[in-house]
This record gives sequence, structure tokens and C-alpha cells, in this order.
Amino acid sequence: MADRYLNFTGTAPGRFLTRRLGLPQPSALRRWTPESPHLDGELLHLTAGKSAYETDLTSILKKTHLKPAQDASRPAAVVLDATGISDTPGLALVHAALHPVVRSVAENGRVVVLGAPVSPTDHHQAAAQQALEGFVRSLGKELGRGRTATLVRMRSAAAAESTLRFLLSPRSAYVSGQVIEVGEAEPTAPGDWDRPLSGRTALVTGAARGIGEAVAEVLARDGARVVVLDVPSAQADLVRVADRLGGTALPLDITADDAGERMASALAPGGLDVLVHNAGITRDRKLANMPAERWNPVLDVNLTSVLRTTDALLKSGTLNRGGSIVTTASIAGIAGNVGQTNYAASKAGIIGLVRSLAPGAYAEHGVTVNAVAPGFIETKMTAAVPLFIREAGRRMNSLAQGGLPVDVAETTAWLASSASGGVNGQIIRVCGQSLLGS
Ligand code: NAI
Repeated sequence: MADRYLNFTGTAPGRFLTRRLGLPQPSALRRWTPESPHLDGELLHLTAGKSAYETDLTSILKKTHLKPAQDASRPAAVVLDATGISDTPGLALVHAALHPVVRSVAENGRVVVLGAPVSPTDHHQAAAQQALEGFVRSLGKELGRGRTATLVRMRSAAAAESTLRFLLSPRSAYVSGQVIEVGEAEPTAPGDWDRPLSGRTALVTGAARGIGEAVAEVLARDGARVVVLDVPSAQADLVRVADRLGGTALPLDITADDAGERMASALAPGGLDVLVHNAGITRDRKLANMPAERWNPVLDVNLTSVLRTTDALLKSGTLNRGGSIVTTASIAGIAGNVGQTNYAASKAGIIGLVRSLAPGAYAEHGVTVNAVAPGFIETKMTAAVPLFIREAGRRMNSLAQGGLPVDVAETTAWLASSASGGVNGQIIRVCGQSLLGS
């Protein structure tokens, strides 16, 4: 369903009127296109205090297609390295670095703050580094004009490369106000950063339409061989998606007891590199009015099947080392939502699964486990939401608009890359910094 308000504010009279009335002013977001795949413009690389990463970061940032500049008048991106800040007086350097430039950041620009892991033993360092979180989340709410702010806590520059490339590109248009932890893992750089999933096989569940279809499309664009899965009743749409992407259709209900084993045999002998658990359903009703027939299927499709099939694919060795599992949570699983006790329980369960499985799956199988948590995404699911609630959902985020399926897909593709091996156990919200659950 078209966002007419966003279209209206894109016109001169619309801009004038909405400004006069003090209404939200969403900017059309700049997303990846084949003609314009990178954020063009200047990059301001600032350092607050001493940094252990300065040289390595400079060489990584040079690869982003942004032009490094000491004195950019309209930077497309500002990267502030605050990793060296180890006490609260040091926070004055964050203000001193960003206060003079923040106003000049270009429309659809990026502010990325780099922090260090919060120390469990040095409470001065912990206070200063945690302060960056409140800083970035507030900045995300202030920036406007399609500009985003993100905090990346890093332990090594090399492991953060794929994350920086993602954040400093149009692919991350709807990711703002987030804190991303990047661990120390030895990342495997792709041969070609424009096709980072070349040679990888990806299975996407719920891919006959909506977000799953967009995920399959973006993974295929990035070079993956895709196997698309959906319920047998959606087979015609599924085959259409598979044919369009040069992939394979796997009609299968993920709630079947042997779904994991059937996926494994469909993927033999080469196995699987990227497993995207996207299939999901809603059966909304307030708890007082919710019969077990509406509760059970939601928990089964959204959570129990994800656990069962993941366990089967790990146990059978179908997931190759260096692989990635991307699950789908939701901001409803973080904030809760009226009429969605079943759905929010299932999506919060996904978050528990990710946090618990990630360290062990990486140690034992060399596989990362992360979640995307979409906010309001323009799909058939949200088009069915009553107009007033739909409008509220669209505007109640820092970018004042709904996201598109492709935004979730781009985030999934970043997590699915072997270069993102340092990103593990993360819940990445793709929500334009929704006010819900923040
Ligand atoms: P959708 O309803 O358009 O697509 C879901 C797909 O999953 C459908 O093709 C459906 O046939 C398939 N599916 C359902 N049960 C299945 C089963 N038992 N076995 C195999 N496939 C099955 O939904 P949408 O909007 O694309 O959502 C995708 C995911 O994103 C879901 O997990 C949803 O909960 C999540 N999400 C969506 C948001 C939104 O705003 N649209 C917000 C937050 C999360």
C-alpha cells in the first residue's frame, strides 16, 4: 500500500504545509539501486581521544566508495572513533567532534560512532562507553532528513569491515539508533565485495511472498544460490520466485516433524551456508479472547519449528562451517503489542534462542546465529492493519515512515556474509528506530 503522506511531503506544497503544521517530515530514503549502489559523497573520519585502530580504520574506510575529506562541508557520512574513551571526562571529546559538524551531514547521510566493549571490571570505562549508547540513540532521533546514527562496539577493525561497509551504504537505509557488537572472529573477506555471497547456498523459509521473497532476491543479487521454501499451498508463487531468481523451490510446511530432515536431504550433497528463518504467521486476539487454536500455531510456526529445524540441520552437519543462521524476531517481541501475546511470545523466544545458541554454534560448528527484528514494514500483512493504526505504525519512528521488505533483506544479506563472522548473537532491529521497545 502506497505511503501517500510520504509522497505528499516530497512535494514543495506538502513540505510547506506539513512544516507549518508541525507534522512529521519524512524524507524518501535512498536505497541500493544497480545504477547507484554506494553512498556517494565525502566521509569525515574523526577520532575522539587515542585510538588503537586509526590506521586500520583509515584503510577500511577508503574502500567504502566515500571520499575521505578532512574538512567536508556536506559529508555523506561521519565516522567518529570513540574506542579510546575510557572515562567520563573523555565524553567532552565526543561533543567537541560532532557538535560542529552534525548540522552539515547530507540528507540520507550516516553518523557511525565506534565504541569499545563495555568493561565488566572498570566502571569508569563502562560508564563512558555505555554513555555512547544514550548519545547515539538520541542523535538518531534528532537527525531527521533520512539520516541515521549507529553505534558499533568493536574489538578489531578487520572484523568490523563488513559492518562498516553495510552501515556506510544505501543498504542500511532503515537501520538507525542501533547498537551492534562486533566480536574478534577472523572474518573471511569475499573475493568480490559487490557479490559477497558468491559460492554460498542459502535457504529462505516463507519465500513465496513478502519479506521472504525480498530476502531471496537480495541474496541472489549478492551471488547466492537460493533455495526458496514455503507451504505446499503457495507452490505456484514459490516456483515463480525460484524461476525468477534461478533458484530451487522447496514446497514444505516447516511445522512437519521431519521438516529439518527433508531440508537436509534437499540440500545434500553440498550442504547449506545461509539459513534464513523468515516464515511466520499472526493470529491476533487479546489473551482473554484467544482460544488455543490461535495460540498454538503461532508458537509452532514462529518458534518451535525454528528450533526443531535448526537443531536437525546442525546435527546432520548440513550447515557448513563459516555459515550463518538469520532468524526473524520482531519489535513486538521486544516491546509487546495488544492482541499479540502469542506472536510477541514467539518472537521474544527467537531472541532467547539466538542469544543462547550463538556462542556454542560458533564454537562447535563455526556458524553465526543472529536475528533481524523488523519494525513496521510495508507488506500485505501491514496493509491489512486498520488505517489509523497503520498510520501510527508508519510515523512512530525516527525516519517517520514504514520500511520496505528490501530493508530487512539487505540486513539479512549483511549478516549472511562470511565477512560478518564477528557479528554473532545480535538482534538487529530494522525499524527506522521505532519508538516501540526502544
Ligand atoms: P507474509 O505473511 O507476507 O509471508 C510469510 C510467508 O511465510 C508466507 O508466504 C507463508 O506462506 C509462509 N509460511 C507461513 N507458515 C509457514 C509454514 N508453516 N511453513 C512454511 N512457510 C510458511 O509475512 P511478512 O510480512 O513477509 O513477514 C515475514 C516475517 O517477518 C515473519 O516472520 C513476520 O513475523 C516477520 N515480521 C514482519 C513484520 C512486518 O511489518 N511485515 C514486522 C515484524 C516481523
